[in-house]
Amino acid sequence: MDSVGPLGLQQGDGAPGCPQEALPCPSNSPELVQECLRQFKVTGAQLRQIQASLLGSMEQALSGQANPAPTVRMLPTYVGSVPHGTEQGDFVVLELGAIGASLRVLWVTLMGTKGHRMEPQSREFVIPQEVMVGPGQQLFDFAARCLSEFLDAFPVGNQGLQLGFSFSFPCHQTGLDKSTLISWTKGFRCSGVEGQDVVQLLRDAIQRQGAYSIDVVAVVNDAVGTMMGCEPGAGPCEVGLVVDTGTNACYMEEARHVAVLDEDRGRVCISVEWGSFSDDGALGPVLTTFDHALDHESLNPGAQRFEKMIGGLYLGELVRLVLAHLAQRGVLFGGCTSPALLSRGGILPEHVAEMEDPSAGAARVHTILQDLGLRPRASDTELVRHVCAAVCTRAAQLCAAALAAVLSRLQRSREQETLQIAVATGGRVFERHPRFLSILQETVMLLAPRCDVSFIPSVDGGGRGVAMVTAVAARLAAHRRLLEETLAPFRLTREQLAAVQAQMREAMARGLRGEASSLRMLPTYVRATPDGSERGDFLALDLGGTNFRVLLVRVATGGVQISSQIYSIPECVAQGSGQQLFDHIVDCIVDFQQKQGLSGQSLPLGFTFSFPCRQLGLDQGILLTWTKGFNASDCEGQDVVCLLREAIRRRQATELNVVAIVNDTVGTMMSCGYEDPRCEVGLIVGTGTNACYMEELRNVASVAGDSGHMCINMEWGAFGDDGSLGMLSTNFDASVDQASINPGKQRFEKMISGMYLGEIVRHVLLHLTSLGVLFRGQPTQRLQTRDIFKTKFLSEIESDSLALRQVRAILEALGLPLTSDDALMVLEVCQAVSQRAAQLCGAGVAAVVEKIRENRGLEELTVSVGVDGTLYKMHPHFSSLVAATVQELAPRCAVTFLQSEDGSGKGAALVTAVACRLAQMTHV
Ligand code: G6P
Ligand code: BGC
Ligand code: BGC
Repeated sequence: MDSVGPLGLQQGDGAPGCPQEALPCPSNSPELVQECLRQFKVTGAQLRQIQASLLGSMEQALSGQANPAPTVRMLPTYVGSVPHGTEQGDFVVLELGAIGASLRVLWVTLMGTKGHRMEPQSREFVIPQEVMVGPGQQLFDFAARCLSEFLDAFPVGNQGLQLGFSFSFPCHQTGLDKSTLISWTKGFRCSGVEGQDVVQLLRDAIQRQGAYSIDVVAVVNDAVGTMMGCEPGAGPCEVGLVVDTGTNACYMEEARHVAVLDEDRGRVCISVEWGSFSDDGALGPVLTTFDHALDHESLNPGAQRFEKMIGGLYLGELVRLVLAHLAQRGVLFGGCTSPALLSRGGILPEHVAEMEDPSAGAARVHTILQDLGLRPRASDTELVRHVCAAVCTRAAQLCAAALAAVLSRLQRSREQETLQIAVATGGRVFERHPRFLSILQETVMLLAPRCDVSFIPSVDGGGRGVAMVTAVAARLAAHRRLLEETLAPFRLTREQLAAVQAQMREAMARGLRGEASSLRMLPTYVRATPDGSERGDFLALDLGGTNFRVLLVRVATGGVQISSQIYSIPECVAQGSGQQLFDHIVDCIVDFQQKQGLSGQSLPLGFTFSFPCRQLGLDQGILLTWTKGFNASDCEGQDVVCLLREAIRRRQATELNVVAIVNDTVGTMMSCGYEDPRCEVGLIVGTGTNACYMEELRNVASVAGDSGHMCINMEWGAFGDDGSLGMLSTNFDASVDQASINPGKQRFEKMISGMYLGEIVRHVLLHLTSLGVLFRGQPTQRLQTRDIFKTKFLSEIESDSLALRQVRAILEALGLPLTSDDALMVLEVCQAVSQRAAQLCGAGVAAVVEKIRENRGLEELTVSVGVDGTLYKMHPHFSSLVAATVQELAPRCAVTFLQSEDGSGKGAALVTAVACRLAQMTHV
């Protein structure tokens, strides 16, 4: 057979594969041999250059640089910590791709902290060549069949099994159980898999096999499995190194250095995928003609060039190409060749391992060569050993240069001059080539002298490590399920929201008719929104929100000028005696007047009093019940305007003339109505929540008159106090309500407003901690402290611009030691609680605008809603979620939300101005 390989190799003697007549050993055979062996010599300088170039490429990839594309991929693996040792349970591991043309199934039992270790049970299945290069479905079906065959030996019954999938090819992982194959390597070439999620392909195959209920909970690269399988006593290993048919390494990188991850704390395991390293500058000089020939004949020419110089799959081929080259030039075997010597894969990795092994005598090498159909002469065996040694030594040295690059990266990433590190090693090249590890160690010491490296052989090729990752994944998956179950009641459907809208409409109608309803629908005696003709200076008070404010409001042709001062209302005053509260209020007014130089001036005063009041007139408001943490005595059932006037009298501040009392929703509507006359609804979502709107007077049973409008303060905070929200209320809502100073009251408010959302989140976090889902199940004292989790944290934690890291900062400041998974879950809890609040608020607004539309018998309604309140204004998504819900539930209303700039103090002044204007008209 006269075949010509890339190295121009010919056929020889009379005997099959031999030249007609025996070729004399060419005189220059020593040079020919030396020239061959020299090609495999790599100098220290070349190794350092490879180390430096690989390090450069690693850092390019970490920084997310895409152009020029780095030649190593640096793939995050979602493994964030080395084993805790707490992992326990039975796990099935399926290994595909780690050991060439066979796959392995293992049953691994992790004993957790119980110490003693159970030997994994495993079985290997040879993968037929046609399966390795056939349709992807065939390969995964083959794997699923092997899995069932393996499990047939176990008393599994129909218990659910958790499987860790060790898939040793370059993949983009987007989760512990989601991984997309980038490209095949190592002789695999199945169609329809690259670009696919290999976990889904395996799940589908297991489904088709239908023998066992197996849940694939994690996919792991063999390098990661090797690192994670490191004996707890020996490690922890923070580098995993595999040299089997292919080669790769992984290591624990500081998360903040991995651009694709928005994480800055903790570490993440990176699969380097150094097999694809190819830097012509660094690798060019060490690539031999045999490497080019091997690559040219390979299934993936031009790819995995570095791997093809190190991986066990290729060492045999390199040796074969060199031996065939030398045989054809008569330097070896008398110029004789054999089919094995001339055909790809003719010399197996195990052949090289044996022939290279110094302990294997010349006789063994002779036998191996004979088994390859060759007739070696004595001198040949020695020469063949040299070739094997040259190929393997170079492989070990190149591997060392790569590992030294990883160690340098670790030194930089941890800003450590010296580094003490344990490297877990796995793969049959380590097991079979005894000199490989020693050459690797020596070369690493040369290239990374300031690293004290201990090499820990993984005992079972990483199967245990994969089980560890699977245990972590199973734990996280279980936690995710518990989180979803816990948050499910907060995820309201459109039907549920429409039901809230309908219930609110009924309650509004009953309230307006004066029938029993959780919505008091209080007339406010504000009959019109401003018409812009208001003028004058007014004092205004704004009580009931986060801050108590005293304001001077100047309404002039050019617009409204406001100067104000915030005064605190200490809790002891808010929950003290009514007299003390109102005396405090008057003290603040007098202080403000002095500061504004208004002392002695008699200005009309508008009082924004953000609590449920039954108004009998513009300046008469009977406090029905305190809300929002206020509980001053002797006020409920009293006319608060009188209480204020009495306090004024006590203070002899006689010049103060209280003209109007308004609810903050009304003040907000008026304030926005001054700019936009279509503003006929006022909405507050702050400490508390409430809404008002302009109702047709004919619909207000408690106020005489059939024409015109009346602004109705709905006091929707109390919606559901009749139990009508029971179906939506969760145990967490019940806990918050029970702990409040007004249990059973303001149920709607307690699901929406700023005073309560933080507490709902805290209770959910406590519940998840008790389930062991959060904070390793350790409830901290701080988390059990009431009101420790402020609602403003929700707004901060949910802000898009806040990376997970800042979420951790907020929680750590609360003394909550947490992992990134914890931070992610806390974020999801906040999102669920605030989303429900915004949607319920949206359902309420939809009820109001639909009422106005139907009141006016309009097909379409265009209306504006004046809004105020810290939660609505500060939360990154609340306002858009409210608007989206209104759009969904009241599609025939075009609703514009106007954020009130000056609070409702301005509104109170405008109501006062209107009152004064009307009063003047009646006096003329
Ligand atoms: C503004 C208004 C107040 C209102 C408050 C509600 O400040 O001027 O009248 O009570 O918003 O929001 P808050 O978040 O302060 O409770
Ligand atoms: C693959 C790696 C794997 C290595 C060792 C390489 O071909 O790309 O993902 O870790 O082989 O099996
Ligand atoms: C009060 C309302 C007020 C709302 C917003 C509720 O607690 O009952 O009167 O409008 O909070 O501040």
